[in-house]
Amino acid sequence: MSKQLWDLIVCPACGMSGSIKHSPSLTCQNCSCDFFWLGNIPCLFPSGRRQQDLWNHLFAALIDEGQQAAAALNVELASPDVSALTVERLKNTLHLHWLTQEAMVELLQSSGFRPVKNVAYDQYSMNSFLIYYHLMLRDWGWDSSAAWQREDRRFDENRVALENVLQVLNPILSVSERPSRVLFIGAGAGRLSWDLHCVLKPEMTVALDFNPLLVSVGARLIRNGETLYAYEKNQEHSGDGPAFFQWPLTCSEGEPHLRDTWFPMLADAWIMPFAAQSFDLIVTPWFIDVMHRDCKDLIAVVEKLLIPGGHWLNYGPFLYGNDFSERCKYTSTELKDFLQLAQFSIVNEQFFQVPYNFSPLTNSGRVERVWGALAKSSLSRSHLDDAGAYDRVIDQHVLPAWMVLPHLPIPRLTKPGLFPAELINVTQFINGKNSINDIKSYIAPHLPSGIDAGDIIYQLLLDYVVDRTDE
Ligand SMILES: C[S@@+](CC[C@H](N)C(=O)[O-])C[C@H]1O[C@@H](n2cnc3c(N)ncnc32)[C@H](O)[C@@H]1O
Repeated sequence: MSKQLWDLIVCPACGMSGSIKHSPSLTCQNCSCDFFWLGNIPCLFPSGRRQQDLWNHLFAALIDEGQQAAAALNVELASPDVSALTVERLKNTLHLHWLTQEAMVELLQSSGFRPVKNVAYDQYSMNSFLIYYHLMLRDWGWDSSAAWQREDRRFDENRVALENVLQVLNPILSVSERPSRVLFIGAGAGRLSWDLHCVLKPEMTVALDFNPLLVSVGARLIRNGETLYAYEKNQEHSGDGPAFFQWPLTCSEGEPHLRDTWFPMLADAWIMPFAAQSFDLIVTPWFIDVMHRDCKDLIAVVEKLLIPGGHWLNYGPFLYGNDFSERCKYTSTELKDFLQLAQFSIVNEQFFQVPYNFSPLTNSGRVERVWGALAKSSLSRSHLDDAGAYDRVIDQHVLPAWMVLPHLPIPRLTKPGLFPAELINVTQFINGKNSINDIKSYIAPHLPSGIDAGDIIYQLLLDYVVDRTDE
C-alpha cells in the first residue's frame, strides 16, 4: 500500500490515526490490536486476528460441507429406483461437485486461507463466502465468452455499468472536478472499481469489501495479473446445454501502471479504518439494498469520510430483502430528502434498466431498474460541528434533521425546565455537539443487556422535547 493511503488509515479498534505499524506485522501501537494480511490485502477489522480465525473456520466448514454433500449424492446414486439416465446425470453432478470443491479449496488456499475449525464460530455459515460467487464470474469471466463478444453486447453488464456510472458522474467530469481519492464501499470482486479507476486515473482508488473470497480474487487478477479458474454450474436443468463451464478469470483491460494505485481492502463498512475527510468520491454500487443496515447509517459514514464538497455516487436497485424492516425500505425520494437534511445537494439522478446476472452459459438473466445518483456534500462542516441552541419544544409534524438523521448533533435545548432533574446525567450530553448516535455510544455500556440505548434517547426526546399535544 502507498504512503498516501497509510496516511488515511485509523485503527478500527481504537480509532487512533497513524497508529498501525504495517511492517513486519500489522499492529496498532496504541491499543495493540493485531491485524493481518490476506496475501497483499490489509484486513482491518476491529476484531483483529479473530476475523482470520473466523474465515479459517469457515474454510474448514466449507470442506466438511462439501464432503457431506458428496456423501448425500452417493446415497442418491445408490437408490434402487434411479434409471440409467438419472445415474449418468447424478454422476455428472458429483463430478462437477468435486471439480468445484477442489477449485474453491485451491483458490482459498492460494489466497492465504487455512482450514482450521474453531467451535467458537460454529454458528457462522460458510455461505457468507459463497453468496456472491456469480459476481466473480460476471466481473472477470463472462467477458471472455466468444458468444458474448460476437453477439449483442447489451448483456455485457460490466460495460453497461461503467457507461451508466460515467453518465451519472458526467456533471463533475465536464467541469474538471475530477476526483483524486476514490473509495468503493461493497466493491465485491472489484470490476467496476477497476474500470472506473482506469477511466478517471485518480491518485488512488480503494476497493473495500468484507467478503474475503471476492476481494482476494479481484486483487490477484488486478494487482498480480494472475489468471484464475472458476466453475459455473448450469442452473437450468433442461439438459440441452452444457452442465457446467470452467471460466478463466483475468483482468485484461487497463494500463498496467494503474494497478499500483488501485488498492483492495478487507474491512467492515460500519467500522471504517479511515480518518474523516479522506475521500473526494465515494461509490456504493449495488450496496444499499443488501447492506442490512438503515441507509441513514450509510449517509453518516459517507458524510464523515468525504471531504467538504466531495461526492457520493450510488448505483444500484432497491431490491430490499426481508431482513430490512419496512421502515428502512427507503425510496429514492426519501433518500434524497435525507441527503438534503444532511446538507448534500443532488447533482444528477437517473434510473437505468440494466441486465443483471446474464450468464453466457444459460443465456438468461434478469433486468433490474437501478438508481444512479450523484450527491455533493456541503462545503461547510458547521452543521456537523455545532448545532447551536434551541429554546422551544419541537413540533412533531416537522421533525428536525438531527432527529431524523441520528448522526447530526443535537442543539443545546435551552428551554427552562425541559428535562426533570433526575435525567441530568443523560441530558448533560446534549451540548450542541453530540448526536443521538454519540449519546447512544456513551450510555450503551452502562445499560443492562437487551435495553437499546437508541430507544431510551428517542423516548426521552419524545417525552420531554417533542410537542405531541394534538396527538
Ligand atoms: C450485491 S454485492 C455488490 C458487489 C459489487 N458492488 C458489484 O456491483 O458487483 C454487495 C457487496 O457488498 C458487500 N458488503 C455488504 N455489507 C458490507 C459491509 N458491512 N462492509 C463491507 N462490505 C459489505 C458484500 O460483501 C458484497 O460484495
